[in-house]
This record gives sequence, C-alpha cells and structure tokens, in this order.
Amino acid sequence: MKRSTVLSIASEVYPLIKTGGLADVAGALPGALAKEGFAVRTLVPGYPAVTAAAKPAEVLHVFDDLFGGQARLVAARAKNLDLFVLDAPHLYGRPGNPYLNAEGNDWPDNALRFAALGQVGAELGRGLLPSFHPSVLHCHDWQAGLVPAYLAHMEGRSPRTVFTVHNLAFQGNFPARLLTRLGLPASALTVDGIEYHGQIGYLKAGLRLADRITTVSPTYAAEICTGEFGMGFDGLLRGRADVLRGILNGIDTSVWNPATDSLLPARYDAASLDARSGNKAALQVRLGLAEEPRAPLFGVISRLGWQKGLDLLLAALPVLLEGGAQLALLGAGDPELEEAFRRAAAEHPGRIGCMIGFDEALAHLIQGGCDALLVPSRFEPCGLTQLCALRYGAIPVAARVGGLADTIIDASPVALSGGVATGLLFSPVNEALLEASIRRAVSLYQDQAVWRQLQLNGMATDVSWRGPAQAYAALYRELL
Ligand code: ADP
Ligand code: GLC
Repeated sequence: MKRSTVLSIASEVYPLIKTGGLADVAGALPGALAKEGFAVRTLVPGYPAVTAAAKPAEVLHVFDDLFGGQARLVAARAKNLDLFVLDAPHLYGRPGNPYLNAEGNDWPDNALRFAALGQVGAELGRGLLPSFHPSVLHCHDWQAGLVPAYLAHMEGRSPRTVFTVHNLAFQGNFPARLLTRLGLPASALTVDGIEYHGQIGYLKAGLRLADRITTVSPTYAAEICTGEFGMGFDGLLRGRADVLRGILNGIDTSVWNPATDSLLPARYDAASLDARSGNKAALQVRLGLAEEPRAPLFGVISRLGWQKGLDLLLAALPVLLEGGAQLALLGAGDPELEEAFRRAAAEHPGRIGCMIGFDEALAHLIQGGCDALLVPSRFEPCGLTQLCALRYGAIPVAARVGGLADTIIDASPVALSGGVATGLLFSPVNEALLEASIRRAVSLYQDQAVWRQLQLNGMATDVSWRGPAQAYAALYRELL
C-alpha cells in the first residue's frame, strides 16, 4: 500500500532542539505515525544545534532572498527523523534558546523568523520540490500558524492542513504594519483571516484557517472553549468546535524506559521496584539532600512560569517540610521564581535541593528516584512529566486540569479500593489544596503496600504513542 506523506512543521524537535513538550511531540510522533502507514517529514528551522546534527545534508532548493538573506532548504536524516532543515543563518544562526536572546527577551525579528518557517512550509505543500507532494501539512503552535495563511494565497493544488495547539498562552501577535513585509496581501488581514485585535495573529491564523484543529488532551479541548481557559480564543473555538479534537500526547517509551535508561544509576521494572532506592540515594547526593531512604522525596521538572503554579509550591513549602519530606526541583524560566527556589534551597540545606537550568540527565534521575512528582499547573494542555512519572513509578501529585485530569486516576477511597488509582489530583488549583495533597501524599507514602499498588498501577498505564498516533492517523484519513 502506498504510504501517504505528511509534512510536520515545528519550531523545535527532540533530540535536536528542545525547550518543552512540543519538541518531544514533534520528535516522537513521526516514528509512531510510520507504524500507522504515514511517512512524516519534518520541517525545522536551521538553528546551530540542528544544522550541526543534520548531517549528511543535501541542498534541495536555494531561496535568494528569504526575509532579508539567502537561505537553503536542506534534506537530512538525523536521529531517526527525516528532516527538511531551513538553513537561513540570518534568521536562525543564533545559539541557545530558539525564541529568546541571552537576556531572555524575544528576538526582535521573531515575526520574520517564523513567517519564513510558515512560508516555506506552505511552498513545500504546494509542490516546491518535484519529488515531494505531502497530502497533509501538520502545523504545530503559533510558530507554524501562518502556513494555512500562505497556502491560501498561493497557486496550485493545496494539501489539507491540521493545526495542533500545544499551548494557547503563546500566541505570536505582531504589528499589522508588517503585513507587506511578510508578503501577505491586505485581504489576509480580516477577522476571518489572520487579524487579531488589530494585529497579525500567528496562532489566530492557524486556529482560523486550518482544516482541522487539534489540541493535546480532550479536557483541554473542552476547556479552551470556555472564557476561563480560552485566552481570548474561546469564541473562535466554539465556532469551530466541529473541527476541533483533543488527542492526548504520548511519550517516547524507548527514551523513557526505566528498564533500559542509561541515565539511571539503577535500572528497574515493575518486578524490581526496590532497585529504585539506588536512584533515590543518587538523586539525594546529586542535589545535596540528606540521604534518608524513607523521607518522602517530591520531585519537580518544569518550566518556571505562571502556568506551572510553582509559586503555589513555594508558598506550600513549610507544609512539605513539616511532614519530613524533601524536594528535588529542576527548572528554569522566570528569574524571580528561579531566585526564590535557590533561596529556599539555601535556607533548608538537606531538605530542598534545586538545580536551575535545563538538564536532560537530571530529569531522568528525578523521574527514576523521586517518590512523587508535583505538577500544580494552573492550566496544562497535556503535560508530559506526569506521563514519564507514571512509567517510572513516581506518583504524580497534580492539579485536576487539562491533560493531567485525563491521564491520572486520583487515589480516592473508591479508586483505591478498586485498585485503579495512579496518583493524586486536586482542584481548584490553590495553595490550600496543594498543601492538602502534599499531606495526603505523605500519609499514603507511610503505607508501603498502598504506595506500591499506586506505583504498579501507574507503570501499567499505557502512556505510549500508539493510541494517539492511531487517532492522528484517523484524522488524516478523514481529510484525504
Ligand atoms: P511544557 O511543554 O509546558 O514545558 P510538558 O510537561 O509538556 O510541559 O513538557 C516538558 C518537557 O520538558 C518534558 O520532557 C520535561 O522532562 C522537560 N523539561 C522541562 N523542564 C526541564 C528542565 N529544566 N530540564 C530538563 N528537562 C526539562
Ligand atoms: C505545551 C503544553 C504541555 C504539552 C506540550 C506538548 O508546551 O504546555 O502541556 O504537554 O505542549 O504538547
């Protein structure tokens, strides 16, 4: 059977470049979709980390002037991914975070950087390369939001489009005066097009113009149609409810497998959970925590920002410490939160350990060594760390929002007696209820048999991409 071709367009892709879950999804979905009969190629900006990894590379097309400089479209295979790399040094030849400069501010030319991604994505969709004719363009987040806008103003047969929103909080709104510079006609700037409150909205364009919209959990799909979670787009989304789907994320179960994880000092599976204690000890040493095997050890792996609710955790620290527990936190983001957690660690040596920065290896050690993973998000489109936690026998303690609500079964008395609980959920999201769940977790932890059952239930949960990939495949087929 001939495999249909999909072009995935993403601004980050694991393991080449990653700031969050978007990269994990863009990196893992192609492999999972291959098993469903779809050949996925990924268009990604040529940041230094990408061009360095994407070798050997074959130049397929040269753009003499792509938003102010020469650019090359390069085919490459890297880490099992079939890539089109948009090598445009004047736009992407900057090391570090793909969106921010060294001071932590958005690059001033982000509008052009991601218009270029959108335009080239659309051109590939319209047959730029004689040998590549994708039937579906799958665009991720605002950085790829202009793809359907460019498509609408190009000649030729148009592929179908899917726009996946990973996070409605990142919208990519830019001044309307850039329209000509972006090469889009004045007619594009309407309420039914890319206009958003007088600006050019990249996320708006994706949401308004794509044939299908997906987001990364069923609960978030419902939440974003409400004023509370819609971030200004709930009206638009209610109007497009017939093309909006929530498809849960999975995780790459070969990258996240406690039985084979080379980043863990002690590997284990459901039958050898006692070996986890070796990872807990290593984690305590690594973060300067007292080596107490029976102290409940809470972990956090997160971007530090309002979404993730970690200011609530700061406020709840006295409660966490009063129960004799410890905290191992890995995160980066908001400088004030970074500073506050550094200070908390300095004030409570041996009880709070924190590492500010991005550290893939430590993320694995936390999953493999902590007893419970805290995810007190105010909103969470899907969330991946709780999925990894389930697989690693760390009990997620999380807010009942978005994908967290869809992937964790709360340890209510009924779920506990039914033997199906996998974690702890609380709502509404506030300090008092976070504190109550921390207390509840500490108390459950004292009963080793109950805790073990929670771990085993979590580890038996299917967090792979198999089901989600089938759902995307069905969506693509519906479009063809
Ligand atoms: P989001 O995409 O909103 O940041 P997710 O839970 O979907 O949240 O995905 C976050 C991903 O980034 C996970 O793979 C997680 O392990 C990883 N991650 C987050 N912060 C860090 C960090 N400081 N160091 C290493 N990995 C991190
Ligand atoms: C976003 C969301 C997160 C989701 C990830 C991947 O960054 O914040 O909840 O898991 O995208 O879809």
